[in-house]
Amino acid sequence: MRYEVLIIGCGEIGISLINGWLNKSKEFYKKISRINILEKNLKRKNYLKKKYKKKVYFVEINKIKRFNKKFKYVFLSFKPRDLNFDLDFYKNLFDKNTIFYSVLAGKKLSEIKTFFPINKNIIRLMLNTPISVNKGTIIFYSLKKSISNNDFFLLNIIGKVYEIKKEKFFDLITAIVGSGPAYFYYLLESMEKTAIIHGLNKSFTKQILKETYIGTAKMISNIEKNFNDLRKDVTSRGGTTEAAINCLKKNNFQKLIYNSIKDSIKKAKTLSSKKVR
Ligand SMILES: NC(=O)c1ccc[n+]([C@@H]2O[C@H](COP(=O)([O-])OP(=O)(O)OC[C@H]3O[C@@H](n4cnc5c(N)ncnc54)[C@H](OP(=O)(O)O)[C@@H]3O)[C@@H](O)[C@H]2O)c1
Repeated sequence: MRYEVLIIGCGEIGISLINGWLNKSKEFYKKISRINILEKNLKRKNYLKKKYKKKVYFVEINKIKRFNKKFKYVFLSFKPRDLNFDLDFYKNLFDKNTIFYSVLAGKKLSEIKTFFPINKNIIRLMLNTPISVNKGTIIFYSLKKSISNNDFFLLNIIGKVYEIKKEKFFDLITAIVGSGPAYFYYLLESMEKTAIIHGLNKSFTKQILKETYIGTAKMISNIEKNFNDLRKDVTSRGGTTEAAINCLKKNNFQKLIYNSIKDSIKKAKTLSSKKVR
C-alpha cells in the first residue's frame, strides 16, 4: 500500500524535503503515491508550481471543508509562530492514523499535541537543509512507544536519523544541527570577503574556498580523528596557520561560538513559551 504525504508550509525546509525525496524517486515512490503541498503564501505557491510542475499537488485552502481524503504522513514545516489555532481549519485532512512530523524550532511535543488531540503519532524533528542533497542530519524525539521503520522511511532516505530520549536537548540540537549550515556558510562568506579585500577575483575565491571546504569535509568523514587533532595536524608550530589560530584564540573565538549558541537556545525557549491563543 502506498500513502500520500502532505507538507504544510513549503518554504526552505519543505523544498529541501521534496528535493531529497525526488533525488531518490525510485525508492520514494515505492511507498509514497504523491507529494501534496498546503501553502498559504500565493507567491510561494506559484513558485512551487513552476518549480515542480506535475511532481507535486496542491491542497486548495478554500476546498478543505469538502476534502474527503485523510493524509497518512504530514510535515508541519511552517514557522513556529504559525502554530496557532488557525490550524483547526485543517482538521478535515487528518484522522487518528495520521503521523505528524514537526520541524518547528522551539515547539515542544506537548504543545504540538494540543493542536492534534486525537493523534498519538507525533514526531518532533530537527534537521538541516543538506536533506535536499540526501546528506541531512535528522534528530527525532517521540512519545510513541513502538515506532515502525515505515514511520522513518521518509527521513531515512534524506539523511542520517538519530533518536534522542530527552527533549530538553532539542534547543541545543536546533542551535547546532538546524542552524549549523548557516555558521559554516558565514565562515566561508567571511573568508571570501577577506580574500576579495586582498585582491583575489570573486569567482576564483569562491571556487577555491568550495574545494577547501569539501576537501575538509571529506577528511572529517574519512578519518576517525577528533576535530582538535585534525586541526593540530595542519597547525605547525611557528607557522602561518598557527598565527591565524592564535589571533582567533586571542579574540576569544570559542567564547564567541559559545555565546552564539547560547543566544540561539535562548531564542528557541522564547518561541516555545509564546502564547498561541
Ligand atoms: N530554514 C532552516 O534551515 C531550518 C532548519 C531547521 C528547522 N527549521 C524549521 O522549519 C520550519 C520552516 O522553516 P522555513 O525556513 O522553511 O520557513 P519559510 O521559508 O518561512 O516557509 C514556511 C512557509 O509556510 C507558509 N505557512 C505559514 N503558515 C501556514 C499555514 N498555516 N498553512 C500553510 N502554509 C503556511 C508560509 O507562508 P507565509 O510566508 O505567508 O507566512 C511560508 O511560505 C520552521 O519552523 C523552522 O523552525 C528551519
